[in-house]
Amino acid sequence: MAEVKIKTQYICSECGATFMKWSGKCQSCGTWNSLSEETVEQTAKGKKSYSPVSNTEPTSLSQLTAGTEIRYHSGFDELNRVLGGGIVKGSLILLGGDPGIGKSTLLLQMCGRINKAFKALYISGEESAGQIKLRADRLGINSENIYILSETNAESIVAAIEKMKPSLVIVDSIQTIYTENASTSAGSVSQIKESAAVLMRCAKTNEIPVFLVGHVTKEGNIAGPKVLEHTVDVVLYFEGDEKTQYRILRSAKNRFGTTSEIGVFEMRSDGLGEIKNPSAEFISDSQSEVSGTVIGCLFEGSRPILCELQSLVSKSPFPSPRRMAIGADYGRLCMLIAVLEKRAGLLLYDNDVYLNVAGGLSLNETSADLAVILSLASCVKDFVIGNDTVIIGEVGLSGEVRGVSNIDVRLSEAYRLGFKKAVVPAKCKITATLGDMEIIRVRNVREAIRFFL
Ligand SMILES: Nc1ncnc2c1ncn2[C@@H]1O[C@H](COP(=O)(O)OP(=O)(O)O)[C@@H](O)[C@H]1O
Ligand SMILES: [Mg+2]
Ligand SMILES: [Zn+2]
Repeated sequence: MAEVKIKTQYICSECGATFMKWSGKCQSCGTWNSLSEETVEQTAKGKKSYSPVSNTEPTSLSQLTAGTEIRYHSGFDELNRVLGGGIVKGSLILLGGDPGIGKSTLLLQMCGRINKAFKALYISGEESAGQIKLRADRLGINSENIYILSETNAESIVAAIEKMKPSLVIVDSIQTIYTENASTSAGSVSQIKESAAVLMRCAKTNEIPVFLVGHVTKEGNIAGPKVLEHTVDVVLYFEGDEKTQYRILRSAKNRFGTTSEIGVFEMRSDGLGEIKNPSAEFISDSQSEVSGTVIGCLFEGSRPILCELQSLVSKSPFPSPRRMAIGADYGRLCMLIAVLEKRAGLLLYDNDVYLNVAGGLSLNETSADLAVILSLASCVKDFVIGNDTVIIGEVGLSGEVRGVSNIDVRLSEAYRLGFKKAVVPAKCKITATLGDMEIIRVRNVREAIRFFL
């Protein structure tokens, strides 16, 4: 009989790294308090040596034919774009996000919207069939081809899939699933990894796309979706500010497409709706124009999105003033404040500075630098930049305004939405037809501010 050794190891619930010794901080991903103890059984037979005989022959690259993936339309254009053009047959897709953000809602709606001839199997380890029915009623979904299964055992799930042969499977959530292959409790890192591996094999052999829901966890007692990122084909994150109705779907990994596309949704009482024209949505049509509010243009994947930035600068009662950035990088804000002080002579050292990006968007590229600068300057000098003006440009440390990518597409989007003026880097080359839109070219932040004074 094979000798069984019990080994103790410590495993990070955020990234899945394993260590021989416990420590307060994971050496791999830097998370605090995420290591937990797990015992693994090692059998001597696990060490079997491989025989060098191989019966799989390598093929020359030039003789291979490119695989054309079969894709299904998910029923949501926004979801399709993020997936890279649809749901690929046999792929394993992880949908991560905070509890309550709308993961179950999105996937149930997807089941209701896909081709009516497709059978969808929704496996829930979290909610009872009755609760799902209640949600389906609220969302107006009543399809004969959606099947609900309350099951948490991975092997039973595979058996059910093989018996029913659905076109699409949802597993909500992976944290509730356990497999007999791992000896630890459901929700632990080993269980999640092993269960996902079982479902992966099932997806590949039966050529059925499988969606896994994964809750993002703040505490380390259940493992987060991060530990699965390298196992699955596609990783999607559903994000959003609880206080706003907007939800943004991003992909962090995609074996079948780019990871730069986003999908924008809105949570309504009857479920998630798609926002096909996010630019128009993220700009408030506030009648009264106030200082500190400006409009910039971000680029998300293949689309420009106009967004509203607001800042507030006020005298600080504290010896070290506060700087806060919501939807923007804190370090970048501090850098831009320093540029304003040094290159434009606006002193902010005894002021608190708050910057907010409306609608839960985030400034993930530098093309909004000039918009941030002008927003702050407008607040300090108390001048108003009209909401018919879009501001585009990167700002360097010497206060120079640098060019940005896709300027034509950004300006065309602004023109389409009726913007009258655009502040752009002096050197950028514009070829788009922009009618009577006034183009204001600026070389540095001083020039940009002077234009509005
Ligand atoms: N009865 C309801 N009426 C309107 N909205 C609801 C209702 N019940 C739930 N919701 C919305 O759905 C959200 C929960 O979505 P859900 O798909 O269950 O999230 P997740 O699966 O990501 O935990 C809630 O945050 C809420 O906004
Ligand atoms: Mg849910
Ligand atoms: Zn870690």
